Amino acid sequence: MALNLDTRQRAMLAEMHVRVWSPLTAPEPASTPSVAAQSVPAVAVPIVVQRPEGLDQMDWPTLHSTVANCQACSLCSTRHHTVFGAGAPAPQGQVPQVDWLIVGEAPGENEDLQGQPFVGQAGQLLDNMLRACGLSRTAVAGPEGGGLYITNVLKCRPPGNRNPKPEEVAQCEPYLQHQVALLKPKIILAMGRFAVQSLLQHSVPGVDKAPLGKLRGQVHSYQGVPVVVTYHPAYLLRNLPEKAKVWADLCLAMAQLKGRAP
Ligand code: URA
Repeated sequence: MALNLDTRQRAMLAEMHVRVWSPLTAPEPASTPSVAAQSVPAVAVPIVVQRPEGLDQMDWPTLHSTVANCQACSLCSTRHHTVFGAGAPAPQGQVPQVDWLIVGEAPGENEDLQGQPFVGQAGQLLDNMLRACGLSRTAVAGPEGGGLYITNVLKCRPPGNRNPKPEEVAQCEPYLQHQVALLKPKIILAMGRFAVQSLLQHSVPGVDKAPLGKLRGQVHSYQGVPVVVTYHPAYLLRNLPEKAKVWADLCLAMAQLKGRAP
């Protein structure tokens, strides 16, 4: 894919340690320890999901307050705030107009305290990556494909930032489902294994065992919305060389949005 990058975008990429002269869409080696480390074991426990009454009919503010008052799992007893999501500004009570939906794992300590997604170090990296694509949390949807919303699979922080438990994911998923239905994004960026497993569990057989690296580089689908898989920014903070792959994933998402995906 040809890239026309201006000085600002090149500066952002340099900050991300992405060298733009390297082949951005080069296939990943068949197996790397870092990718394998992102796979998780299958979930075998049957889970009873207590779906909130009338969730499918809720408007955006009702969904937001339902999440804020949710007690469907034990995370409600340890959280300071729920984290519904954030992104393009919208008039009071209306659904934000967005092209992009970015899905992470779960709030961390800072997010739990502030009630906002991705406000810590991983969030700064995410913002830098988005800026390199000409995107920002405050932009609105437009002809150039701007406007984004950031949310997580879990709306409450797992204590000590432990991994989400299958039953927590199952209880929280209906919220994400309805967020997608209301936001109607044109592209979803699934960051990290929990977002990927949650979004692709019904469309990709064996997704719970698939290394993330094997799911990258293709366009999947969730509720009819194209999904691009990438690494989580927190993982990138620990594995700086993987940033070039995330840039390739962002390029794929941008191409899909503009109808130019391979
Ligand atoms: N990591 C996530 O997955 N989500 C956040 O909101 C913050 C860190």
